[in-house]
Amino acid sequence: MQRTLSIIKPDGVSRGLIGEVVGRFEKNGIHIAGMKMIRMTQAQAEGFYHVHRNKPFFNSLTRFMSSGPVVVMALEGENIIEKNRKLMGATDPKNAEPGTIRRDFASEIEKNVVHGSDSPESATFEIGYFFNRFEIVS
Ligand code: CMP
Repeated sequence: MQRTLSIIKPDGVSRGLIGEVVGRFEKNGIHIAGMKMIRMTQAQAEGFYHVHRNKPFFNSLTRFMSSGPVVVMALEGENIIEKNRKLMGATDPKNAEPGTIRRDFASEIEKNVVHGSDSPESATFEIGYFFNRFEIVS
């Protein structure tokens, strides 16, 4: 059993895509073990994306991620990190397979609707960044 963090980004929330994204998880039998809506400060977004702190897009990304509410979810299941990444599609929607969330809804690499952890190590850090253990229901 594995966990991953999913975020519906500010563009996904403001465009009314919460139900669409959650519905895709549910239709694929994914267990949502934790879920809440929050709004990050830019400093909180910088802490979350600290691995990208030297990238040219860091300032723009963290400004965007703190520009409005996001929905954070802890997803649970066998091989869930990879399963969620398949459902999301490639980071750049231009490269995402048809039928994936990013191909169907995103138009650019920064405003790409969803985030998902890319490894067990980042999933542990990212879930711990937003949830305490009482907020995760296995
Ligand atoms: P995400 O899965 O949230 O992880 C880091 C984010 O940085 C990524 O999705 C993209 O939204 C963003 N990102 C990655 N590469 C670029 C880039 N070249 N230009 C702008 N944003 C990027």
